[in-house]
Amino acid sequence: MNKIPATIGTGAPQQTGDTMMHKNVEAVLNGLKVAVFVVDADHRILFRNAASSGLFGVGLKGRDLADFVPNKKCLRAVDAVLAGQDQASVDVKLQLVVPTSFSVTVVRMASDANPQDTHAIVSLEDVSHIREAEQMRSDFVANVSHELRSPLTALYGFIETLQGPAKDDREAHERFLGLMETEAQRMARLIDDLLSLSKLESAERVAPVELNDVDLILRRVKASLQPITNRENAEVVLEISEHLPMVHGDLDELTQVFSNLIENAAKYGRVNSVVTVHAGVDEENPEMLRISVTDQGEGIAAKHITRLTERFYRIDKGRSRNKGGTGLGLAIVKHILMRHRGELQIASELGEGSVFSVLLPIAVEGDRL
Ligand SMILES: Nc1ncnc2c1ncn2[C@@H]1O[C@H](COP(=O)(O)OP(=O)(O)O)[C@@H](O)[C@H]1O
Ligand SMILES: [Mg+2]
Repeated sequence: MNKIPATIGTGAPQQTGDTMMHKNVEAVLNGLKVAVFVVDADHRILFRNAASSGLFGVGLKGRDLADFVPNKKCLRAVDAVLAGQDQASVDVKLQLVVPTSFSVTVVRMASDANPQDTHAIVSLEDVSHIREAEQMRSDFVANVSHELRSPLTALYGFIETLQGPAKDDREAHERFLGLMETEAQRMARLIDDLLSLSKLESAERVAPVELNDVDLILRRVKASLQPITNRENAEVVLEISEHLPMVHGDLDELTQVFSNLIENAAKYGRVNSVVTVHAGVDEENPEMLRISVTDQGEGIAAKHITRLTERFYRIDKGRSRNKGGTGLGLAIVKHILMRHRGELQIASELGEGSVFSVLLPIAVEGDRL
């Protein structure tokens, strides 16, 4: 059933021209991505376009619209239009295979032949991706505000104490100023990470062209992380293949990727543990470089693994905060690797530690420095 009612063309389709027009209107409606239903005054379906069958199933002719769109708001809009209103728009959420958000528009259509017959054209546009993006944006703003507010609240607390009870206590001044510095540094790190993310988002489509040497980057990162690895009592062991091929990459961004992965491995590993960084041509994909960071930590449960690159997702919030984390590190890593046409793979078993692997495309021969 895909026949359009006669009233949707330019009149009764007896003449060849009208039939052509009729067919064209049908073709246009079937070419739309939006689901379109035409219903009569009793909500009976007279026509539905191709997109509607993908969403709501086939064989709906003659059945009640309410069987497929069981939503009071939507049906009230249809009734309002059938009762004389020119058009109505509502947003609804329907439980299809998955919950799906629709923007619904209902317009009135009077029959040329029988003006007393009123039909309604109901179009349902799937706007789930827009609603999800809106939700993510508002969750993100709420998270950022919360993350900034916590150090700010701590700072206010220290200021009040210094102005009041600890006003003349020199020893307390020293201690509180130290704590205030830590909180201010936390805010600065968060702002730096947020700026990194927004810069990366705007540059995501442009792949970096400079040639870089991962071997050199890993050695520098290891040296610069020494204060943290010493604090965590972690030993970083580099196992880098000889003559490691070069990659196209941004020096600062690749440094950020390996810093975060090695720092995480040291922070979330066990005390006195070893972090092994292995770099070489990937065995399965000889056109890629594989750099894996293996720790001896407690490992990560499967349910967390897929979510680790979400902004502010942390398995243990308190622990991450204590270690000075912002919860944005792996989100930044993911974005940098997307821009580098690379990939992040996470493998872990509880109690066995974790392996965070970076895959980067090797620069083609002739591009070597
Ligand atoms: N090597 C690891 N072992 C166990 N958990 C990890 C490891 N790396 C990351 N995680 C988890 O992933 C979370 C997110 O990491 P990240 O985005 O770098 O944020 P941060 O380090 O600032 O907390 C961490 O808080 C931690 O719970
Ligand atoms: Mg981190």
